[in-house]
Amino acid sequence: MNDSISRRLFLRGSVATATALIAGACASSNVYALSTNSEKLGLHYGPKLGIAKLDSNENPYGPSKAALEQMALASAKGAYYASEPYRYLVSMIAEKNSLSPKNISLSSGSSGVLTYAAIAASQTGKILGPDLFWDTTARAPERAGGGKIKRIAKTSDLSIDLDALYAAIDDDVAMVQVTNPNNPTGMLTDARKLREFCIKASKKTLVLVDEAYNEVTDMPAENSMVSLVREGYNVVIAKTFSKLYGLAGMRVGYMMAPEALVEQITRFGLGGYAMNQAGLAAAIASYNDEAFLKMSKSKIIEGREMVNDAVKSNGLYALPSQTSFVFVDLGQGNADIFRERMAQQNVLIRGIYQDYKNWSRVSMGLLEDVQKYVDALPRALEETLRST
Ligand SMILES: Cc1ncc(COP(=O)(O)O)c(C=O)c1O
Repeated sequence: MNDSISRRLFLRGSVATATALIAGACASSNVYALSTNSEKLGLHYGPKLGIAKLDSNENPYGPSKAALEQMALASAKGAYYASEPYRYLVSMIAEKNSLSPKNISLSSGSSGVLTYAAIAASQTGKILGPDLFWDTTARAPERAGGGKIKRIAKTSDLSIDLDALYAAIDDDVAMVQVTNPNNPTGMLTDARKLREFCIKASKKTLVLVDEAYNEVTDMPAENSMVSLVREGYNVVIAKTFSKLYGLAGMRVGYMMAPEALVEQITRFGLGGYAMNQAGLAAAIASYNDEAFLKMSKSKIIEGREMVNDAVKSNGLYALPSQTSFVFVDLGQGNADIFRERMAQQNVLIRGIYQDYKNWSRVSMGLLEDVQKYVDALPRALEETLRST
């Protein structure tokens, strides 16, 4: 896009022009075409050119073409609060999950609802979780000076020990949180066992199941615990448009729970006021876009196979992943050093989690970026092992 086109686009605010340009950029699959001007200003929406960003489990094949078109339309109406699209998306989610709209609350990313649930729980007790899970929001009350996380002991295969988790529920626990599949391990907890656990545990405390990567699993419907919400258990399910839907920057997530729980938890949030018009438009356009979701999933699976092959051929081991990332055992290698060495080759991945010093998480991304990881791996590993 040249300067004069971009000026016209932004000065006149022509929806048709914006839509055509965005759709064109999307159709040519040149995801960088629109960022040329901002790059010149030193402003980067997404990764810098030449950087393989494989550190945040985003889906760079998104947003879908339909989402881009609807975002352009919705942006032009950005002067208005987004109450109607909020209700619309809620009703779509309700219909798909055979729930009432009262069972659903949206937030800015699922981080919103997960944080509200954590704050609500921290009013009365601790949040219980496995040793390793996506605990960013569970730590929110602790960061603010109240609330605590109670963790069960780690397991040798890094799976979630549901029996130990159940045994750890005592009077001090106000909520138990399970991420399924888990992050950063990528592993799926068996649906039948998790269902049994949720039923038992929810009679003692609130159960929060974070299903951010559910759509990436082989059998999303079977793996989701949403039926427990329909059955009225004391269970909250959190989901997001940030992962398979390719809308991490558009910030749309939601929870599904029995009505009374939705009311209790959303007291700590802002409901519709927290949402933006363009994000809702993108989510609405993507929610049932099966062709886009199928394409995205196939890219993730292809990337995972590339990483798993590379891991094996470099003599390493990775946990079985049902997500858009892979957790790699570097053996003697230190994951922070490995991350640095990868970054020197323009590949961004994650470093050490807690005391899991030799475990390294890599996200799937554009396949050419996954290929960069594969190409960079032997040298980065060798340098890491030499300096660990
Ligand atoms: C397991 C899990 N849950 C929730 C989130 C929050 O994502 P968002 O706020 O973008 O929905 C993430 C982000 O990486 C995640 O990995």
